[in-house]
Amino acid sequence: MKQKGYADIVLGLQFGDEGKARVIDNLAPNYEIIARFNGGSNAGHTITNEKGSVALHQIPSGIFYPQTTLYIGSGCVVNINKLAEEIKIVTNYGLDLTARLKISSQASIVQPHHILLDEILGKSVGTLKHGIGPAYADRAMRMYGDRLVNIRLADIMDNQKHIFSVIENNLNVIRKQYKLKVSVEKEIESMKKRFAQIKPYVEIDPLYMQRRVEKGARVLFEGAQSVMLDVVKGSVPYVTSSATIAAAAYTGGDLSPKYHRKTIGVAKAIMSRVGYGPFPSEFGGKQSEEYCMETSDDKARHTKDVEAKYKIKELISSPDHFYVGVGLRILSGEYGATSARPRRIGRLDLVQLRYATKLNGVDELIITKCDVLNAYSKIKNDGIPIVAGYKLDGKTIDYVPAASDAFYRVKPIISYEKSFTEDISEIRSFDKLPTALRKHIKLIEKTSGCKVVGLGVGPKREQYISL
Ligand code: IMP
Repeated sequence: MKQKGYADIVLGLQFGDEGKARVIDNLAPNYEIIARFNGGSNAGHTITNEKGSVALHQIPSGIFYPQTTLYIGSGCVVNINKLAEEIKIVTNYGLDLTARLKISSQASIVQPHHILLDEILGKSVGTLKHGIGPAYADRAMRMYGDRLVNIRLADIMDNQKHIFSVIENNLNVIRKQYKLKVSVEKEIESMKKRFAQIKPYVEIDPLYMQRRVEKGARVLFEGAQSVMLDVVKGSVPYVTSSATIAAAAYTGGDLSPKYHRKTIGVAKAIMSRVGYGPFPSEFGGKQSEEYCMETSDDKARHTKDVEAKYKIKELISSPDHFYVGVGLRILSGEYGATSARPRRIGRLDLVQLRYATKLNGVDELIITKCDVLNAYSKIKNDGIPIVAGYKLDGKTIDYVPAASDAFYRVKPIISYEKSFTEDISEIRSFDKLPTALRKHIKLIEKTSGCKVVGLGVGPKREQYISL
């Protein structure tokens, strides 16, 4: 009997970096297509297995499973230069992408002027300076007067000479406007060369995904940047510029929603956030936000080296929550995969998690980094802290405020659950986990209304408990 095609979605439910890539890496054997539907090179998806550790940015995380097609959907913005480099890195792992990688020709490209604009204008959001915001803005803008600003891969395929002259002109306009020193010719030449490298992967059939699924292919959509960074539903304006929620998988992933089967949400046991923006559960509050954000990329690497010399135990048992956050960051290696920036660290926020699971109709929940939770046995209150509710201007609320200032003013209501001291990184069955952790998982299920189906207990592929 012919297999029936369908699609599942893996989505980050917090502020990014929940460990989606390792979940995809675990699930990939059950699918024929792994597809990205949003974002671009701003994503940092790290896979660690016996072959080493690979940080992917644009290529979907199914690389180690040769039966999978890796699809980059029209909802993504493609950085041609970086994609060509990434293809080379993956190829160096002995993986042949020739017949596997497909890039929707409807995807827009990140042009050199987008990157320049993001460097100049993205600071107050704390963007990764990959030009993502300006590229999506130009996608919506379409034409700027008579100047074509949204360029799709299909346009380059159709008339390369003309489109590269448009890209060059767009770069010149911004170069002049901001009086920038840029070697325009060099930029364009390099881009042309790299385009030749990615051209064989461009899929010109807009119904490619439909055709495959009609023939029985099972698709796993890989969300990037997570729910709280969605351009509309997230903590606006401190968000990315793409649609990151489950519904966007079908528009950005080029498939009819009639094939949807289930949504798998990934949340981290101890939360993190990169970039500016409200984060009510943050250890050390504003101090932590400013400390983590004041670093440029070079300084960020330096901060990481400095923090590596601290004594984790002393930090975690400090009465000052800022230092508790630093300790947890070092312990769980929470530094940006793309930028090495120290990530802001927070307690698990159940108000936010409930918002994300309900909004996306999450069917199954996977909680990653559960192994780090035993660190809480060393903190002063000796318990696993969770954010059980919010107070806004003295009133208890049970929702995530949409107004940015209000979200910033939220005070978390923190409660403590019983902690555990055991190292769980070698445990592979739920029954063998400490009672306190099992209770914690049950509480998450009750609050979110979702069944927890998997727990990450370490970064390696096998450090995973399936429930
Ligand atoms: P942009 O996506 O580079 O425009 O950045 C907008 C915001 O989203 C910034 O706060 C970034 O730190 C954040 N962001 C973008 N991509 C990721 C990601 O993959 N993980 C976590 N945060 C991200």
